[in-house]
Formats: sequence, C-alpha cells, structure tokens
Amino acid sequence: MTDVLSFPSSFEWGCATAAFQIEGGAHEGGKLPSIWDDFCAQPGRIKDASDGLVACDHYHRYPEDVALMASLGLRHYRFSIAWTRVMDAQGRPNPAGLDFYRRLLDELQRHGITPNATLFHWDLPSHLEGGWLNRDTAQRFADYADLIARELGDRLPRVATLNEPWCSAFLGHDRGVFAPGLQDREASLVAAHHLMLAHGLAVQAWRAVRSDTALGIVLNPELCDPASAAAADVAAARLAELERNDVFLNPLFGREWPAEMLAQIGTRAHERRSEDLAICAQPLDFIGLNYYTRSVARAPASASETRRGYAIVPPTGAEHPLTDIGWEIYPSGLGRMVRKLCAQWPLPPIWITENGAADNTGVSQGECHDVMRTHYLQTHLAELSTLIEAGFDIRGYYVWSLLDNFEWAEGYSQRFGIVHVDYATQTRTPKHSARWLQALMQRSTGVA
Ligand code: NOJ
Repeated sequence: MTDVLSFPSSFEWGCATAAFQIEGGAHEGGKLPSIWDDFCAQPGRIKDASDGLVACDHYHRYPEDVALMASLGLRHYRFSIAWTRVMDAQGRPNPAGLDFYRRLLDELQRHGITPNATLFHWDLPSHLEGGWLNRDTAQRFADYADLIARELGDRLPRVATLNEPWCSAFLGHDRGVFAPGLQDREASLVAAHHLMLAHGLAVQAWRAVRSDTALGIVLNPELCDPASAAAADVAAARLAELERNDVFLNPLFGREWPAEMLAQIGTRAHERRSEDLAICAQPLDFIGLNYYTRSVARAPASASETRRGYAIVPPTGAEHPLTDIGWEIYPSGLGRMVRKLCAQWPLPPIWITENGAADNTGVSQGECHDVMRTHYLQTHLAELSTLIEAGFDIRGYYVWSLLDNFEWAEGYSQRFGIVHVDYATQTRTPKHSARWLQALMQRSTGVA
C-alpha cells in the first residue's frame, strides 16, 4: 500500500499534540488554571465529565513519549506551550514551567527530533478578565510571545502563534460548545478579531527579539459544500466559508473582512480599529493547515442560524463513510481546499499541521488494528502527494495525534492517536497505523 505514495526526500514527517490534551500535571510547578480547566469543572460541558488534570500524564512521561516518537521514525514534533505554565498572573516568567519545556526540548534534541511549537492551543489563562473579548488579552499574548522568544527562542526553529482560532472564536463564543461556552454571535466576531490582532502583535513582539525563527499560524479552513443547488443553500455555503476562512485569512494579507461578516459584528463594530489591519498582516514564513473533513451547509431556519447565515447538515454516512466521531472521510477535500485557498490568498509555504481520524478500536492481545485510521491516512497522504506533484509548496505533514488524548468537549471518548493510551495504567501501545506510517516515512526519507 505504501508503494503508491511518493514524497520528496526533504519532506518533513511528524506528529502533533497540544498541552491541555496530553500534559496533565495541572497543579504542578506553579501552573495556573486555564479557561478549559474552568469549562471542564462546569457540569454537562464535557461528554464523559472528564478533565485535563492528568490526561496522558505527559508532564511526567515526556521522556518515554519522546523515545516512542523516535522509535516510530517521527523526526518532527508539533506541540503547544501552556501559557498558564510559563507565566504568572503578573506576567512574570515562571521558572519551573519554563524548565519543563527546556527538559522536553533537551529530550527532543537528544533524539534528533525537530520541535515546532504553538504558543496558543486554546488554554487561555483564567485570570485574563474578559478573555478574548477584552482587547487587552491581545497585548497580554504579545507579552507572552516576547517571554517565550527570550526564554526558549534559541531552541525553537519554527513557531506558530495560534492554533485554529476559528474554534476559539466561534465554538467558544457562538456555538458555546468550547470554553468559555458563550452563545453570542457579535461576541464571537469580536473574539475572532482580537485573536488575529493577538497573532499580529505576537509576531511583532517575537521579531523584535529574534529574527531567526520561522513564524506562522495554524488555521483550519473548511470546504463547505451546499446541501443542494438551491440558491439559498449555495448562499449559505458561501457564508459558512466566509466565517471559517475569510475572517482569518483576509487579515493575514491586509484585506478587510467581507461585508457580510462586518455586518454580523453589529453593535460591536467599533471594537475593530482602523489601525488593526496593518498589525494583523505581518509577513509569514509559513502557514499550517489542519484538515479533517468537509462540511455541507444549508440555508438557515432558526433564529440563531439566521444570525449566522447558515446551518451545517450533520453527515449521515450515506455519501461518504464516517469516522467514529461522525466526520465524513473525504480525502479529495484536502486537494480541493488547498487549491481553493491558494487561488484566493498568496499563501506562504504550507505545512499540514494536523490530519487524522477518530478510530476508537481498542487493544486486544497487545495489538490495535486501527484499520479505518490506516486507510484514512493512506488516502489523505495519496491526495497530498498529488498536490505536491502538481507543484503546491507543501513541506511537511504532522499526523494528529501521537497519543489518544483529551478530545475537548468529547473528553476521552474519541481516540485520535496512532499510539493507544490505556488511561488507567498510562500504558502506550503503538497501533497498526503507527507501523504503517513508519514504513511509509522510511521509504520516503530513505532512513531505515
Ligand atoms: C484540531 C485541534 O487542533 C485538536 O486539538 C483536536 O484534537 C483535533 N482537531 C481533533 O478534533
């Protein structure tokens, strides 16, 4: 199966994780709470009523986890830094938290694994009043970026400011399914704006300290197909893409939001200041794209759908098979999405910073035959190799995720790892997909 896939020998292969989803160690080394700790503590927010207090205990087991990556042939590691671990409430560095990441970086270096750090993967410090609805949070984020540039910058060749700001803004402030759990359309657009402002300020702050880091951002643009050829569904699909894509990509390239999005911010339009656009549009060294599936949109029916301008049709599996979390397996969407984005925006070099599937197959007799995930990876990587052959500048791929982990509102009920985690014993078991990927990487890089 691996024979049909070809990649440039320089292609970067890695895996991705995020601090809140794997670290645990929630009360150690002076770590402060984040909005996700608060959200998990609210009854009914997380499907299995779980939290991130222990997660995969990576805070203690990182040497084992890095050795595991190395043994699987993974040469690049995308992880996130927990803001709440490294900075205190007064904005001062927390030496114990910084030391954790220094030890992690030492371990990666010892195994020849190149780090790719994300500064913000949703775990906003609880003490920042108003969160992303407060403009000051963008400035606090720039202070945090400055701190990381000074303290760890010499060890980090590649840094992304934000991970999937769409989720923080819209799942967190409009749908209410992610922290902080608000359902306020105008607020979600304010949050989106402040996130992009934070990105721009952080890039400026980092570059004022160091010029040798490749800086970028990780987005999750989405392909939204209309549910039917009816004009109302086509218009809805367009609005869905404006919200998911243009709200984040336009500011990166100095372009205003589309008029439809400007209209939706309503009474809070004044929170976007005219000087902000130039700050958001900092030159980028790379862009990270996360791809899992596509969406199908239809015309709005309820009041909240009307405010948004669209509704997403839950996939049934009739058209394309589903992963265990219920997302369509739609590999050609990766190609369609990259082609569409490159036609619309002058993207810098691309890394696929996440791709993977929820496949909840368990371990039996020491083995995990995650056939669906393996097939998912194979078909998506085939699509990726076609894109590269067609000349798209895609330089690397990080599978989501190294380990089964805390899948946000789904708790531990959905498993995305290429390595199985038994949460009762913290035993790690590489799955069939990990071995398959290892063989592919070996063939493509020529490293045995
Ligand atoms: C994207 C997010 O960045 C990651 O945290 C999440 O676990 C995966 N999608 C799967 O939902």
